[in-house]
Amino acid sequence: MNLSTEYLGLKLKNPLIVGASPFCDNTHSAFALQDAGAAAIVMRSLFEEQVDAEQKALVHHVEISANSNAEGTSYFPNFDDYQLPPDQYLRQLENLKASLTIPVIGSLNGCRPGGWMDYAKRFESAGADAIELNLYQLVTDPELSGDEVEAAMLETVHSAASAVKIPVSVKLSMFHTSPANFTQAIEGAGAKGVVLFNRFYQPDFNIEELEVRPQLKLSDSSELLLRLRWLSIISPHSRGSLAASGGVHQTEDVVKALLAGAHVVQLVSVLLKHGPRYLTTLLAGLRHWMSEHGYEHIDQVRGAMNLKRCPDPAAFERANYQRILQSWRV
Ligand SMILES: Cc1cc2nc3c(=O)[nH]c(=O)nc-3n(C[C@H](O)[C@H](O)[C@H](O)COP(=O)(O)O)c2cc1C
Repeated sequence: MNLSTEYLGLKLKNPLIVGASPFCDNTHSAFALQDAGAAAIVMRSLFEEQVDAEQKALVHHVEISANSNAEGTSYFPNFDDYQLPPDQYLRQLENLKASLTIPVIGSLNGCRPGGWMDYAKRFESAGADAIELNLYQLVTDPELSGDEVEAAMLETVHSAASAVKIPVSVKLSMFHTSPANFTQAIEGAGAKGVVLFNRFYQPDFNIEELEVRPQLKLSDSSELLLRLRWLSIISPHSRGSLAASGGVHQTEDVVKALLAGAHVVQLVSVLLKHGPRYLTTLLAGLRHWMSEHGYEHIDQVRGAMNLKRCPDPAAFERANYQRILQSWRV
Protein backbone atom coordinates (compact mmCIF):
# COMPACT_ATOMS: atom_id res chain seq x y z
CA MET A 1 0.00 0.00 0.00
CA ASN A 2 1.32 3.41 -0.96
CA LEU A 3 0.67 6.31 1.43
CA SER A 4 3.11 8.68 -0.23
CA THR A 5 1.88 12.10 -1.25
CA GLU A 6 3.17 15.38 -2.56
CA TYR A 7 2.72 18.60 -0.63
CA LEU A 8 4.06 21.96 -1.86
CA GLY A 9 6.21 19.98 -4.27
CA LEU A 10 7.80 18.02 -1.40
CA LYS A 11 7.65 14.25 -1.57
CA LEU A 12 6.20 12.94 1.71
CA LYS A 13 6.06 9.34 2.88
CA ASN A 14 2.49 9.76 4.15
CA PRO A 15 -0.08 12.56 4.56
CA LEU A 16 0.33 13.15 8.32
CA ILE A 17 2.30 16.24 9.26
CA VAL A 18 2.70 18.03 12.56
CA GLY A 19 1.12 21.49 12.50
CA ALA A 20 2.71 24.68 13.84
CA SER A 21 3.09 24.24 17.59
CA PRO A 22 5.70 24.12 20.36
CA PHE A 23 6.70 20.52 19.50
CA CYS A 24 9.70 21.55 17.43
CA ASP A 25 11.13 23.96 19.99
CA ASN A 26 12.85 20.88 21.19
CA THR A 27 14.82 18.65 18.80
CA HIS A 28 14.19 15.61 20.99
CA SER A 29 10.39 15.85 20.64
CA ALA A 30 10.71 16.61 16.92
CA PHE A 31 12.75 13.42 16.59
CA ALA A 32 10.09 11.46 18.49
CA LEU A 33 7.48 12.72 16.01
CA GLN A 34 9.61 11.67 13.05
CA ASP A 35 10.22 8.31 14.69
CA ALA A 36 6.47 7.78 15.15
CA GLY A 37 5.86 8.43 11.45
CA ALA A 38 5.35 12.20 10.95
CA ALA A 39 6.00 12.97 7.28
CA ALA A 40 6.97 16.62 7.89
CA ILE A 41 6.85 19.15 10.69
CA VAL A 42 5.90 22.79 10.94
CA MET A 43 7.71 24.88 13.53
CA ARG A 44 5.85 27.35 15.73
CA SER A 45 5.44 30.82 14.22
CA LEU A 46 7.92 33.62 14.26
CA PHE A 47 5.70 36.70 14.66
CA GLU A 48 5.91 39.98 12.78
CA GLU A 49 5.77 41.78 16.15
CA GLN A 50 8.75 39.76 17.45
CA VAL A 51 10.90 40.76 14.52
CA ASP A 52 9.73 44.39 14.63
CA ALA A 53 10.55 44.60 18.34
CA GLU A 54 14.03 43.23 17.74
CA GLN A 55 14.65 45.58 14.80
CA LYS A 56 13.50 48.62 16.81
CA ALA A 57 15.82 47.68 19.61
CA LEU A 58 18.74 47.38 17.20
CA VAL A 59 18.00 50.74 15.57
CA HIS A 60 17.93 52.50 18.94
CA HIS A 61 21.04 50.65 20.12
CA VAL A 62 19.27 49.66 23.27
CA GLU A 63 19.19 46.38 25.01
CA ILE A 64 16.17 44.29 24.22
CA SER A 65 14.33 44.39 27.47
CA ALA A 66 10.84 43.85 28.72
CA ASN A 67 10.18 47.58 28.30
CA SER A 68 11.62 48.13 24.85
CA ASN A 69 8.30 47.74 23.07
CA ALA A 70 5.97 48.84 25.81
CA GLU A 71 4.48 51.88 24.13
CA GLY A 72 1.74 51.33 21.62
CA THR A 73 2.14 47.57 21.58
CA SER A 74 1.61 46.88 25.26
CA TYR A 75 -1.05 44.27 24.53
CA PHE A 76 1.55 42.11 22.83
CA PRO A 77 3.85 39.84 24.79
CA ASN A 78 7.10 41.46 25.81
CA PHE A 79 10.04 40.54 23.61
CA ASP A 80 11.47 38.25 26.27
CA ASP A 81 8.17 36.43 26.72
CA TYR A 82 8.15 35.02 23.19
CA GLN A 83 9.45 31.49 22.87
CA LEU A 84 12.28 31.25 20.33
CA PRO A 85 13.44 34.82 19.61
CA PRO A 86 14.39 35.32 15.95
CA ASP A 87 18.07 34.29 16.16
CA GLN A 88 17.23 31.28 18.31
CA TYR A 89 14.47 30.36 15.86
CA LEU A 90 17.00 30.22 13.03
CA ARG A 91 19.40 28.15 15.15
CA GLN A 92 16.63 25.71 16.02
CA LEU A 93 15.69 25.43 12.35
CA GLU A 94 19.32 24.55 11.56
CA ASN A 95 19.37 22.02 14.40
CA LEU A 96 16.19 20.37 13.17
CA LYS A 97 17.54 20.19 9.64
CA ALA A 98 20.77 18.63 10.90
CA SER A 99 18.95 16.00 12.99
CA LEU A 100 15.88 15.04 10.98
CA THR A 101 15.36 13.45 7.58
CA ILE A 102 11.78 14.69 7.09
CA PRO A 103 11.03 18.17 5.68
CA VAL A 104 11.00 21.05 8.13
CA ILE A 105 8.61 23.93 7.44
CA GLY A 106 9.20 27.31 9.08
CA SER A 107 6.21 29.46 10.01
CA LEU A 108 6.05 33.22 9.61
CA ASN A 109 3.09 34.97 11.20
CA GLY A 110 2.06 38.45 10.16
CA CYS A 111 -0.30 40.25 7.86
CA ARG A 112 1.28 43.35 6.29
CA PRO A 113 4.41 43.53 4.15
CA GLY A 114 7.37 44.80 6.21
CA GLY A 115 10.88 44.19 7.45
CA TRP A 116 9.87 40.93 9.12
CA MET A 117 9.55 39.39 5.69
CA ASP A 118 13.37 39.26 5.41
CA TYR A 119 12.96 36.21 7.57
CA ALA A 120 11.54 34.32 4.60
CA LYS A 121 15.04 34.49 3.08
CA ARG A 122 16.69 33.69 6.40
CA PHE A 123 14.48 30.63 6.82
CA GLU A 124 15.54 29.51 3.36
CA SER A 125 19.25 30.03 4.17
CA ALA A 126 18.84 28.10 7.42
CA GLY A 127 17.60 25.13 5.40
CA ALA A 128 13.78 25.30 5.64
CA ASP A 129 12.11 23.09 3.07
CA ALA A 130 9.10 25.41 2.88
CA ILE A 131 7.51 28.38 4.61
CA GLU A 132 4.02 28.51 6.02
CA LEU A 133 2.75 32.07 6.11
CA ASN A 134 0.07 32.60 8.73
CA LEU A 135 -1.88 35.73 7.80
CA TYR A 136 -3.75 35.94 11.11
CA GLN A 137 -5.44 39.27 11.43
CA LEU A 138 -8.37 40.51 13.43
CA VAL A 139 -9.74 43.59 11.76
CA THR A 140 -11.34 45.92 14.31
CA ASP A 141 -11.18 49.12 12.23
CA PRO A 142 -14.64 49.75 10.72
CA GLU A 143 -13.05 51.96 8.05
CA LEU A 144 -11.13 49.03 6.59
CA SER A 145 -12.97 47.06 3.91
CA GLY A 146 -12.60 43.37 3.22
CA ASP A 147 -11.08 44.19 -0.18
CA GLU A 148 -8.37 46.34 1.40
CA VAL A 149 -7.55 43.66 3.96
CA GLU A 150 -7.29 40.97 1.29
CA ALA A 151 -5.22 43.20 -1.02
CA ALA A 152 -2.64 43.69 1.78
CA MET A 153 -2.61 39.95 2.40
CA LEU A 154 -1.97 39.22 -1.27
CA GLU A 155 0.87 41.74 -1.31
CA THR A 156 2.37 39.97 1.71
CA VAL A 157 2.09 36.59 0.00
CA HIS A 158 3.65 37.97 -3.18
CA SER A 159 6.59 39.52 -1.29
CA ALA A 160 7.31 36.31 0.58
CA ALA A 161 6.88 33.98 -2.38
CA SER A 162 9.00 36.10 -4.71
CA ALA A 163 11.81 36.46 -2.16
CA VAL A 164 12.55 32.73 -1.93
CA LYS A 165 12.92 29.65 -4.10
CA ILE A 166 11.40 27.29 -1.54
CA PRO A 167 7.61 26.85 -1.64
CA VAL A 168 5.37 29.10 0.42
CA SER A 169 1.96 28.05 1.72
CA VAL A 170 -0.64 30.29 3.35
CA LYS A 171 -2.59 29.43 6.48
CA LEU A 172 -5.98 30.99 5.95
CA SER A 173 -8.74 32.17 8.19
CA MET A 174 -12.23 30.76 7.65
CA PHE A 175 -13.65 34.28 7.64
CA HIS A 176 -13.33 35.29 4.00
CA THR A 177 -16.44 36.03 1.99
CA SER A 178 -15.31 33.81 -0.87
CA PRO A 179 -12.57 31.43 0.30
CA ALA A 180 -12.48 29.60 -3.06
CA ASN A 181 -11.84 32.82 -4.94
CA PHE A 182 -9.31 34.04 -2.39
CA THR A 183 -7.44 30.73 -2.59
CA GLN A 184 -7.07 31.23 -6.34
CA ALA A 185 -5.83 34.79 -5.76
CA ILE A 186 -3.30 33.47 -3.24
CA GLU A 187 -2.06 30.92 -5.74
CA GLY A 188 -1.87 33.73 -8.31
CA ALA A 189 0.30 35.69 -5.86
CA GLY A 190 2.82 32.86 -5.85
CA ALA A 191 1.79 30.54 -3.01
CA LYS A 192 2.07 26.82 -3.67
CA GLY A 193 -0.74 25.85 -1.32
CA VAL A 194 -3.13 26.79 1.45
CA VAL A 195 -3.77 25.47 4.94
CA LEU A 196 -7.45 25.40 5.91
CA PHE A 197 -7.89 26.84 8.49
CA ASN A 198 -6.28 28.94 11.13
CA ARG A 199 -7.90 28.33 14.51
CA PHE A 200 -9.03 31.32 16.48
CA TYR A 201 -8.74 31.44 20.21
CA GLN A 202 -11.86 33.17 21.42
CA PRO A 203 -11.48 35.15 24.64
CA ASP A 204 -14.16 34.65 27.29
CA PHE A 205 -15.70 37.21 29.68
CA ASN A 206 -15.25 37.06 33.42
CA ILE A 207 -18.52 38.67 34.57
CA GLU A 208 -17.37 39.15 38.19
CA GLU A 209 -14.13 41.00 37.43
CA LEU A 210 -15.41 42.43 34.10
CA GLU A 211 -12.29 41.16 32.44
CA VAL A 212 -11.67 39.54 29.11
CA ARG A 213 -9.89 36.25 29.58
CA PRO A 214 -7.75 34.71 26.88
CA GLN A 215 -8.02 30.94 26.77
CA LEU A 216 -6.56 28.11 24.76
CA LYS A 217 -8.73 25.03 24.42
CA LEU A 218 -7.56 22.12 22.35
CA SER A 219 -9.78 21.19 19.41
CA ASP A 220 -12.08 18.21 18.94
CA SER A 221 -13.37 16.44 15.82
CA SER A 222 -16.41 18.73 15.50
CA GLU A 223 -14.09 21.48 14.21
CA LEU A 224 -13.22 19.37 11.20
CA LEU A 225 -16.62 19.86 9.55
CA LEU A 226 -15.93 23.41 8.41
CA ARG A 227 -12.61 22.26 6.94
CA LEU A 228 -14.31 19.38 5.11
CA ARG A 229 -16.82 21.70 3.49
CA TRP A 230 -14.23 24.17 2.22
CA LEU A 231 -11.70 21.54 1.16
CA SER A 232 -14.48 19.95 -0.86
CA ILE A 233 -15.42 23.24 -2.47
CA ILE A 234 -11.88 24.44 -3.12
CA SER A 235 -10.15 21.23 -4.19
CA PRO A 236 -11.68 20.89 -7.68
CA HIS A 237 -10.37 24.37 -8.61
CA SER A 238 -7.08 24.54 -6.75
CA ARG A 239 -3.83 24.05 -8.66
CA GLY A 240 -1.78 23.98 -5.46
CA SER A 241 -1.58 21.82 -2.36
CA LEU A 242 -4.23 21.71 0.33
CA ALA A 243 -3.66 20.98 4.01
CA ALA A 244 -6.43 20.36 6.53
CA SER A 245 -5.69 21.88 9.92
CA GLY A 246 -8.13 21.78 12.82
CA GLY A 247 -10.06 18.96 14.40
CA VAL A 248 -8.22 15.90 13.07
CA HIS A 249 -8.28 13.45 15.99
CA GLN A 250 -9.13 10.00 14.68
CA THR A 251 -8.45 7.80 11.66
CA GLU A 252 -11.93 8.65 10.35
CA ASP A 253 -11.02 12.36 10.45
CA VAL A 254 -7.87 11.73 8.41
CA VAL A 255 -9.85 9.75 5.84
CA LYS A 256 -12.56 12.43 5.62
CA ALA A 257 -10.04 15.23 5.07
CA LEU A 258 -8.35 13.24 2.27
CA LEU A 259 -11.71 12.42 0.66
CA ALA A 260 -12.54 16.13 0.75
CA GLY A 261 -9.36 16.87 -1.21
CA ALA A 262 -6.54 17.46 1.30
CA HIS A 263 -3.01 16.46 0.27
CA VAL A 264 -2.00 16.37 3.93
CA VAL A 265 -3.56 16.73 7.35
CA GLN A 266 -1.87 18.75 10.07
CA LEU A 267 -2.09 17.51 13.64
CA VAL A 268 -1.56 19.45 16.85
CA SER A 269 -4.22 19.04 19.57
CA VAL A 270 -4.40 15.28 19.19
CA LEU A 271 -0.62 14.95 19.60
CA LEU A 272 -0.60 17.32 22.59
CA LYS A 273 -3.28 15.10 24.17
CA HIS A 274 -1.90 11.66 23.34
CA GLY A 275 1.78 12.23 22.53
CA PRO A 276 3.83 11.57 19.36
CA ARG A 277 3.25 7.77 19.39
CA TYR A 278 -0.40 8.38 18.50
CA LEU A 279 0.82 8.95 14.94
CA THR A 280 1.45 5.21 14.64
CA THR A 281 -2.19 4.52 15.60
CA LEU A 282 -3.47 6.97 12.99
CA LEU A 283 -1.20 5.57 10.28
CA ALA A 284 -2.21 1.98 11.07
CA GLY A 285 -5.87 3.06 11.03
CA LEU A 286 -5.43 4.75 7.64
CA ARG A 287 -3.78 1.65 6.14
CA HIS A 288 -6.54 -0.53 7.55
CA TRP A 289 -9.30 1.68 6.16
CA MET A 290 -7.67 1.81 2.72
CA SER A 291 -7.24 -1.93 2.56
CA GLU A 292 -10.84 -2.58 3.73
CA HIS A 293 -12.12 -0.23 1.03
CA GLY A 294 -9.87 -1.46 -1.79
CA TYR A 295 -7.59 1.58 -2.13
CA GLU A 296 -3.94 1.00 -2.97
CA HIS A 297 -2.69 4.55 -3.27
CA ILE A 298 -3.54 7.67 -1.34
CA ASP A 299 -4.07 9.50 -4.67
CA GLN A 300 -7.17 7.36 -5.23
CA VAL A 301 -8.65 8.59 -1.95
CA ARG A 302 -7.87 12.28 -2.37
CA GLY A 303 -10.82 14.34 -3.50
CA ALA A 304 -13.12 11.33 -4.03
CA MET A 305 -15.86 13.24 -2.17
CA ASN A 306 -15.13 16.78 -3.27
CA LEU A 307 -17.79 19.02 -4.71
CA LYS A 308 -17.24 17.77 -8.27
CA ARG A 309 -17.19 14.10 -7.40
CA CYS A 310 -19.52 13.52 -4.46
CA PRO A 311 -22.87 11.92 -5.30
CA ASP A 312 -24.87 14.82 -3.77
CA PRO A 313 -23.14 18.18 -4.37
CA ALA A 314 -26.21 20.01 -3.06
CA ALA A 315 -25.30 18.70 0.40
CA PHE A 316 -22.55 21.35 0.49
CA GLU A 317 -24.66 24.19 -0.73
CA ARG A 318 -27.58 26.41 0.11
CA ALA A 319 -30.14 23.71 -0.70
CA ASN A 320 -28.91 21.64 2.17
CA TYR A 321 -29.02 24.57 4.57
CA GLN A 322 -32.71 24.94 3.80
CA ARG A 323 -33.38 21.19 3.99
CA ILE A 324 -31.77 20.97 7.44
CA LEU A 325 -33.69 23.95 8.84
CA GLN A 326 -36.96 22.67 7.43
CA SER A 327 -36.43 19.21 8.93
CA TRP A 328 -37.10 20.39 12.51
CA ARG A 329 -40.58 20.04 13.94
CA VAL A 330 -41.71 20.98 17.45
C1 LIG B 1 -0.12 25.25 21.95
C2 LIG B 1 -0.37 25.64 20.53
C3 LIG B 1 0.52 26.47 19.87
C4 LIG B 1 0.29 26.84 18.54
N1 LIG B 1 1.18 27.67 17.93
C5 LIG B 1 0.94 28.03 16.63
C6 LIG B 1 1.84 28.88 15.94
O1 LIG B 1 2.87 29.32 16.49
N2 LIG B 1 1.56 29.21 14.67
C7 LIG B 1 0.44 28.76 14.01
O2 LIG B 1 0.24 29.07 12.82
N3 LIG B 1 -0.43 27.95 14.65
C8 LIG B 1 -0.21 27.59 15.92
N4 LIG B 1 -1.10 26.78 16.55
C9 LIG B 1 -2.30 26.33 15.82
C10 LIG B 1 -2.10 24.94 15.23
O3 LIG B 1 -1.04 24.93 14.27
C11 LIG B 1 -3.39 24.42 14.55
O4 LIG B 1 -3.72 25.26 13.45
C12 LIG B 1 -4.58 24.37 15.49
O5 LIG B 1 -4.19 23.88 16.76
C13 LIG B 1 -5.66 23.49 14.93
O6 LIG B 1 -5.22 22.18 14.75
P1 LIG B 1 -5.58 21.00 15.79
O7 LIG B 1 -7.06 20.86 15.79
O8 LIG B 1 -4.88 19.78 15.23
O9 LIG B 1 -5.05 21.42 17.11
C14 LIG B 1 -0.87 26.38 17.87
C15 LIG B 1 -1.75 25.52 18.53
C16 LIG B 1 -1.52 25.15 19.84
C17 LIG B 1 -2.50 24.24 20.51
